Amino acid sequence: MGDFLFLYISMNQSIPDPKEILAILDLDHPGAHDKAYRKRREMIAGLAKEFRGNIDTIPKLVYLDQEHTVWYRVNAELESLHHTLACQEYLDMREKIHLPLDHIPQMQDLSKRIFEITQFSLMPIEGLVDSRSFLGHLADGKMFCTQYIRHPSKPEFTPEPDVIHEFVGHVPMFASDIIVEITKLIGKKSLSATDRQLQMLERIYWFTLEYGVIEENGKHKAYGAGFLGGIEEISKLQTGKALVEPFDIKKIVETDFNYSFLQPRYFSIQSFRELYQELERFFVSDTYQLA
Ligand SMILES: [Fe+2]
Repeated sequence: MGDFLFLYISMNQSIPDPKEILAILDLDHPGAHDKAYRKRREMIAGLAKEFRGNIDTIPKLVYLDQEHTVWYRVNAELESLHHTLACQEYLDMREKIHLPLDHIPQMQDLSKRIFEITQFSLMPIEGLVDSRSFLGHLADGKMFCTQYIRHPSKPEFTPEPDVIHEFVGHVPMFASDIIVEITKLIGKKSLSATDRQLQMLERIYWFTLEYGVIEENGKHKAYGAGFLGGIEEISKLQTGKALVEPFDIKKIVETDFNYSFLQPRYFSIQSFRELYQELERFFVSDTYQLA
């Protein structure tokens, strides 16, 4: 799931008022009928109003024991999956930022840690933002981020980003120089994108930073946050149920996706530097320029 995916509204839809968020989530959310959970999420989302743009103002949240328990349970399972299925860059970066596995860390602390390393930072989000705004902030090295955790009834999969997706899936990779370069490159292109170019950027973002696969020693390893923060998602690489194709940017920009379901196909790169160069070449190609 992508953060712009929680927040993602396709170009053909209008952007709802933030007050409508929970109504929207009702459609397929595991916590749809849990009033206490919904109220808690509403409170956490509301805290984002306190954010004033700098890291020191990211609101600190006292997480409940049951929320820490969900974090711990999911991470205990993810850790063993990461051992065999996460790419080396991710494993190195997760260690570098000292991501705790036994309790939910504060977004403010994580943001400070990655800012010290790559000058990338996180911004709490109260409501919905369209993909143009989401991608546009990436250009500045800033990512909108949620602070609530998934519903305990379905810890293995969440239809939209939560702290496990954000903090476990995305944040370690933002300590990586090359991942930040790729992220900013996609973000910068969004600033002047036509609607069709924006759609291409959404798909590129989705099939790289959300669901990207890299080949390491002949094996498919995950580098996308959707994999790294999701038990069901990353398990697909293990079970061989996922269709993994060689990276093909022209195919990617023609491939639609649905963020509410597990993905049927992925694209595998050979190296992050090669991905960066591939993107640079694509952005000056007629396919992108004339779109
Ligand atoms: Fe994401």
